[in-house]
Amino acid sequence: MAESSTNPLAAPLPDGIVPAEVIARTEKRWIKMMASMLLIMLVVIVATGIAGALHPPSNVEVIDPMTLHLRGEFVESNLGTAAEPDGSVTVRLIAQQYEFVPRCVTVPAGTPVVFRLTSADVVHGFLLPDTNVNTMVVPGFVAEVRTRFANEGEYAMPCHEYCGLGHHAMWAHVRVVPKKRFANLSAVERINCDSQQ
Ligand code: CUA
Repeated sequence: MAESSTNPLAAPLPDGIVPAEVIARTEKRWIKMMASMLLIMLVVIVATGIAGALHPPSNVEVIDPMTLHLRGEFVESNLGTAAEPDGSVTVRLIAQQYEFVPRCVTVPAGTPVVFRLTSADVVHGFLLPDTNVNTMVVPGFVAEVRTRFANEGEYAMPCHEYCGLGHHAMWAHVRVVPKKRFANLSAVERINCDSQQ
């Protein structure tokens, strides 16, 4: 028919244009390559998530930021490190512009540690470098992170969410001491690193 012979799509390809079957083969190869890369990345995410306990904190627990200092878990006398009957410890901290309260906490090595934080004002960040601890601290919610420190040492604890003009100066410390030494510390010494020098 006259129409098909004038149809440019039906005309034979000029030299230099890649034939359709070659394109199809190349595209299939790329699809396989991309799919295997996605699979590898997915395996890496799952493996590190399980092996290093690296995962987004998923604790959803609401709290009234206006009454933190008046009643409940985050009153001043309840902040710091508390030993639990099951041998673990719980660390409670308040993040506020521009400090963590308390500024230094002591925890025992080789012990399950639960950090519980909340904010008194705006969104702050809670990060312990080289550990699985990394979360936002959002006013109105309790952020909970579980970890365990294998060795003694001192961790700097920077706020890593921009929270205002003093953000860069918002730091605290976590000091990890041997289990036996921790047992001998008083409640005051556990939240005051200066007294342990
Ligand atoms: Cu608090 Cu940045």
